[in-house]
Amino acid sequence: MGIISFAAAGAAAPCLAEPTHSGSMLESCIPCHGLDGIARDAEVPNLAGQNEAYLLNQLHAFHQGRRAHKEMLYMSRKMTDADMQALAAYFASLPPR
Ligand code: HEC
Repeated sequence: MGIISFAAAGAAAPCLAEPTHSGSMLESCIPCHGLDGIARDAEVPNLAGQNEAYLLNQLHAFHQGRRAHKEMLYMSRKMTDADMQALAAYFASLPPR
């Protein structure tokens, strides 16, 4: 399941690195941030086209509890360093809106 959705995401963003389990991690971001990185809700920030270094910093900050947010703390708990790098690179590679 994760592999299939990863393939779909990979097609949208050809520069995404080779499959890791961050494919299924990406799947869990989609309901809020969108596969295209454009948020579905007014309280959720767009991630498409954001600086990769900034996105990675924010994920680290959520992960380490330096940036407090209930949902993102929960999401980032499960992330490895490689996940965060892949996710930051993926969303940074998308066209902003
Ligand atoms: C339940 C909804 C939800 C899910 C699922 C979710 N996020 Fe978020 N995310 C948010 C909200 C809301 C914020 C804004 C946090 C705040 O207000 O401080 C946010 C903020 C962020 C930010 C910081 C953006 C910025 O401009 O500072 C990043 C990066 C991020 N999310 C990445 C992810 C990734 C990667 C995933 C999947 C692993 C994910 N999010 C899953 C709701 C969600």
